[in-house]
Amino acid sequence: MANLQSNLAGIKSPNPFWLASAPPTNSGYQVMKAFDAGWGGAVWKTLGVPVVNVSSRYGSVNYRNSRMIGFNNIELITDRPLRDNLREITEVKKRFPDHAVIASLMVETKEQWHEIMRQVTDAGADGVELNFGCPHGMCERGMGSAVGQEPKVLKTIVSWVKEVATIPVIVKLTPNITDITRPAVAAVEGGGDAISLINTIQSLVGVDIDNFVPYPVVDGKSTNGGYCGPAVKPIAMNMLKNCAQNPNVTIPISGIGGIENWRDAVEFILLGATNVQVCTAVMHYGFGIIRELTDGLERYMDEKGFQTIDDMRGLALPNIKHWEDLNLKYKVVASINPDKCIGCQLCYTACEDGAHQAIGLSTNLSDRIPHIIEENCVGCNLCSLVCPVEECITMERRDDGTETKTWADRTAAGNIPTTFNDELAGGLHHWVPEPGDALKKRVPRHYKVSGE
Ligand SMILES: Cc1cc2nc3c(=O)[nH]c(=O)nc-3n(C[C@H](O)[C@H](O)[C@H](O)COP(=O)(O)O)c2cc1C
Ligand code: SF4
Ligand code: SF4
Repeated sequence: MANLQSNLAGIKSPNPFWLASAPPTNSGYQVMKAFDAGWGGAVWKTLGVPVVNVSSRYGSVNYRNSRMIGFNNIELITDRPLRDNLREITEVKKRFPDHAVIASLMVETKEQWHEIMRQVTDAGADGVELNFGCPHGMCERGMGSAVGQEPKVLKTIVSWVKEVATIPVIVKLTPNITDITRPAVAAVEGGGDAISLINTIQSLVGVDIDNFVPYPVVDGKSTNGGYCGPAVKPIAMNMLKNCAQNPNVTIPISGIGGIENWRDAVEFILLGATNVQVCTAVMHYGFGIIRELTDGLERYMDEKGFQTIDDMRGLALPNIKHWEDLNLKYKVVASINPDKCIGCQLCYTACEDGAHQAIGLSTNLSDRIPHIIEENCVGCNLCSLVCPVEECITMERRDDGTETKTWADRTAAGNIPTTFNDELAGGLHHWVPEPGDALKKRVPRHYKVSGE
């Protein structure tokens, strides 16, 4: 059976699922409850000079029937005195010695970094996470993402911390930067033992259009906040991949951003994460989601024959290439299964208006099932993505798999388009309707119609 144990830069935990530093890790009560439910570790709500928060604090993006697909907050670091947090860290560690308790930290001066490092180490924390990511409130005070956006400053602060550190130091990065690998490499150069990413993305989540105030509203005013939840997962995974593929990022990575179920966690691990952290999903559904996370991961690992997390870490990375190295000879076209089709014609509209006019309708109006015009189909996937019926539109391979030619190959061979009307253009002989056809009502169109 799969072994879920995790080891991030020497910090061990019974499984790779940690709570990210946020409201679910605000107190010893919550962290104990989470460990009791099955969480492997917790990064304590960021410690420092305690703050005063505003009310209200959160906003969300609800999309159709789904609530909180994106989540926004303008909350700062802990508002509780350090001594209370330290006492509770000690208490949690005493009760759960094998679980990982990480102290997230954010202070200003070298003296403060040294002082707080000593205090959390004495309290029994297994490691620290330096919060260089918070994109609101703290950055205006020269902390949080203000540090994460300046690799030189970040490196200096990591090295201050390492001067006194006797426990592993994780550096948490901000996504509010063009190239995440620059602060990641700076963290390595400063002596960091691991990096974690992502913190929240600077955002405005919506505007009250009656009162002209963005959300969340604080006495008729608002400010930008930090965005997280399922909507940020693709951004987090891309940044994770960029760090994991960078040869100069030689330390392990804790993956964060939009993780909600075991599949998300598997995806992060396949992209190079050693463990994962979760915030919004717990704020939405509670600590109980850990059962699905651990059961699902264990089942997946057993099915695939992975004994440990390390066996699967990074397996997707060799399959992520630069665009110029993709095979231009690979050819897929859409195929509609008439037995599954419900005749909604969403695919037709999408392809007709948003893609390549490669789906035809029948001249017989009672026949609602569209058909693919293969010679027009560029294999973009759009119809299969909009189709509401699972596996109704599939993409089928048409090349025989024997030929590979990439843009890099073509460039090397000198046969890439270089002039505005170049004969080598990919779309040169691809049929498109005449502009005037757009004004003709319904059929007849340029399409083949069913039965003809
Ligand atoms: C309300 C709220 C408060 C947060 N506070 C902190 C914090 O104190 N320190 C920190 O490093 N990250 C903080 N975060 C960011 C999370 O730790 C995490 O990086 C981010 O939410 C992305 O993960 P998710 O998509 O699972 O929520 C906070 C997030 C939320 C939603
Ligand atoms: S979107 Fe799918 S279900 Fe709807 S008409 Fe097209 S193939 Fe049929
Ligand atoms: S794959 Fe793209 S081009 Fe082909 S039929 Fe679907 S939407 Fe049209």
